[in-house]
Amino acid sequence: MSHKIALNFEDGVTRFIDANLGETVADAAYRQGINIPLDCRDGACGACKCFAEAGQYDLGEEYVEDALSEEEAEQGYVLTCQMRAESDCVVRVPASSDLCKTQQASYEAAISAVRQLSDSTIALSIKGEALSKLAFLPGQYVNLKVPGSEQSRAYSFSSLPKDGEVSFLIRNVPGGLMSSFLTGLAKAGDSMTLAGPLGSFYLREIKRPLLLLAGGTGLAPFTAMLEKIAEQDSAHPLHLIYGVTHDHDLVELDRLEAFAARIPNFTYSACVASPDSGYPHKGYVTQHIAPKHLNDGDVDVYLCGPPPMVEAVSGYIREQGIAPANFYYEKFAASA
Ligand SMILES: Cc1cc2nc3c(=O)[nH]c(=O)nc-3n(C[C@H](O)[C@H](O)[C@H](O)COP(=O)(O)OP(=O)(O)OC[C@H]3O[C@@H](n4cnc5c(N)ncnc54)[C@H](O)[C@@H]3O)c2cc1C
Ligand code: FES
Repeated sequence: MSHKIALNFEDGVTRFIDANLGETVADAAYRQGINIPLDCRDGACGACKCFAEAGQYDLGEEYVEDALSEEEAEQGYVLTCQMRAESDCVVRVPASSDLCKTQQASYEAAISAVRQLSDSTIALSIKGEALSKLAFLPGQYVNLKVPGSEQSRAYSFSSLPKDGEVSFLIRNVPGGLMSSFLTGLAKAGDSMTLAGPLGSFYLREIKRPLLLLAGGTGLAPFTAMLEKIAEQDSAHPLHLIYGVTHDHDLVELDRLEAFAARIPNFTYSACVASPDSGYPHKGYVTQHIAPKHLNDGDVDVYLCGPPPMVEAVSGYIREQGIAPANFYYEKFAASA
């Protein structure tokens, strides 16, 4: 029996390893070619200290207070030369992937479907045997190489992996390199290279109500997160507000409806900013945040979208004088 450990490095790279029963996380990483910084291997120096963001584990009994204080252990810090996983875990390593002698993984796959959902939005799915080995935390992204060029673009997974297939929700930027490929040339069977997974915008353990705020194709990481939540259930209320600029940007509503039917505590609303919109709910995401969604600060907020939207929403929440328990965001910055 083994458990999956996601090691998140400080440069945003994530690698997954298997830790066998009774094996320390540092040993499991080393066995799989990843050198977490170590010195004494004895629980005495603290060189291997990391932060466990999720999962159950045994801290070990052999370490000394100087290496890991009681307070640090309570906060979630661990000594990976002593830590033994008792479930799947997520561990933040305070070093770059390069320093730990690893790097992001690269995968070859082929387009299984490319569909224009509207003038502004494309749904892309890719599939391949190599992707059956791909693991990521819902909310993370990969770099997809644009076929016929040496350039890559970052895209958040919009689904969990299933039978070696993953999907993306992509904005059609007029004249954009990837956008032009996807709307003009791409067809099923074309090969694509992806590198990752990457990023610290991923679903944490749900310990309180969640407020999910999406702008445009910033919806992508949330549909991956909702797939995960649907598998595990949550006792806490989860509310998503999805804002777009024009009516034709509003996509995947049937999928959100299906999540609302499947996840007992999940609700959502969508809104369109353009004054010309015929959609019943108008305005910006911020106009649809009710005080109950911020729950006097006892809420984890996840926010994703184009940089101006992320900045405007962050500013709005600050102005309410409420500091959410946790605030995670991802900006879909243009690479050019
Ligand atoms: C971490 C991360 C995750 C991302 N995930 C997603 C995702 O899931 N879905 C998604 O649609 N995008 C996502 N993006 C943005 C994506 O990587 C590309 O930037 C975008 O798709 C444009 O690529 P392109 O090759 O079509 O255009 P490019 O060739 O990169 O750009 C063409 C021109 O358009 C401008 N431009 C690019 N993007 C925009 C924009 N959004 N608005 C206005 N002008 C723009 C550029 O500055 C350039 O002048 C993500 C970005 C980051 C950093
Ligand atoms: S390597 Fe010294 S405490 Fe783990």
